[in-house]
Amino acid sequence: MVRKKIGNTDMTASSVVLGTWSMGGDEQWGEKSDDAASVEVILKAYDQGINLIDTAPAYGFGHSEEVVGKALKQIPRDQVLIETKHGIWWLDDEGTFMRERDGYRTYFNLSRRCVMREVEESLKRLGTDYIDIYMVHQQARPPFDTPIAETMGALMDLKKQGKIRAIGVCNCNDDQLREYIRCGEVDVLQESFSMLTQQNVKAHLDICKEHGISFEAYASLEKGLLSGNLRMDYVIPDDKNVRNNVPWFAPEKRKKVLAMLDGWKPLCEKYECTQAALSVAWTANYDESIFVLSGGRKWKHMESYIAGGNIRLDPADFRQMSADIDALLAE
Ligand SMILES: NC(=O)c1ccc[n+]([C@@H]2O[C@H](COP(=O)([O-])OP(=O)(O)OC[C@H]3O[C@@H](n4cnc5c(N)ncnc54)[C@H](OP(=O)(O)O)[C@@H]3O)[C@@H](O)[C@H]2O)c1
Repeated sequence: MVRKKIGNTDMTASSVVLGTWSMGGDEQWGEKSDDAASVEVILKAYDQGINLIDTAPAYGFGHSEEVVGKALKQIPRDQVLIETKHGIWWLDDEGTFMRERDGYRTYFNLSRRCVMREVEESLKRLGTDYIDIYMVHQQARPPFDTPIAETMGALMDLKKQGKIRAIGVCNCNDDQLREYIRCGEVDVLQESFSMLTQQNVKAHLDICKEHGISFEAYASLEKGLLSGNLRMDYVIPDDKNVRNNVPWFAPEKRKKVLAMLDGWKPLCEKYECTQAALSVAWTANYDESIFVLSGGRKWKHMESYIAGGNIRLDPADFRQMSADIDALLAE
């Protein structure tokens, strides 16, 4: 697996990053996760050369971090990079209310007090004494609108203390990203990016290149839709399920997406890959600087992310796929 430098640090990471949201097993993900199977997936991914694991306290209210912590006991700590996040708060009611889920009331909160508390909780759950990349998960918003300078000040202090090695930010607009850069050192930007979700990627990549920041793409399969395996007869289990947030699952739209994917069967044959791998490959090939996050808790799903991350699409094939996608997005 190709390894690339993380931002302006001395760390290098695999181009496919192991995402562990669904391993947190909260009610958004339907079927309950099997922790032993999740640990197996993490260890197998490590054996296949994936050396960066992405998690967050919000993934199962600490559970994903605990599962990663279990796997970490079986991996030499200096051979793996851990990326976790802060900013979705549930330990008290300070912050801007986000939602109630799994019996927890969550708040957007990026105050210095919360950053300092959250990092300690994550270190405990992960069973480690440092975090390689510590990320702002969601941006602050009114009425509890912490200035970016305050959050960044806390993060830079954690860096000086050696509790974190690098800082990342997620889900921000250009102005917010530039403000983080002005107030401290940003090495990673993590954003949603797939064939169907391309808003702002060009502008973000430009800023990343200007400042040497790595770009990590999440949701490259739109919660499994772009694998081509969830056909018209697939029913989203309930109204809490995370797939309700993907408008492309609506029947009319889904039909068009599946028709587009089916039209690429010759490409799957050419690259000897699954449709899931081809979709991941489009995201990975969009720009050579992109890291792609996987989102599977089953090994058979992980295999397609790994395969996709390794495919180099011929420029003509990438152009053909992009033209089909543009036509779909224009409808
Ligand atoms: N910073 C942020 O705000 C943010 C937001 C979202 C995600 N992330 C990170 O990015 C990672 C990936 O995001 P995501 O989970 O949204 O990714 P995704 O790739 O769009 O979707 C993952 C879902 O697709 C399913 N899937 C994967 N391969 C499949 C296949 N071949 N056939 C059918 N279904 C398949 C998975 O099922 P199974 O669970 O059954 O394997 C899972 O439910 C997360 O784990 C997390 O680490 C970060």
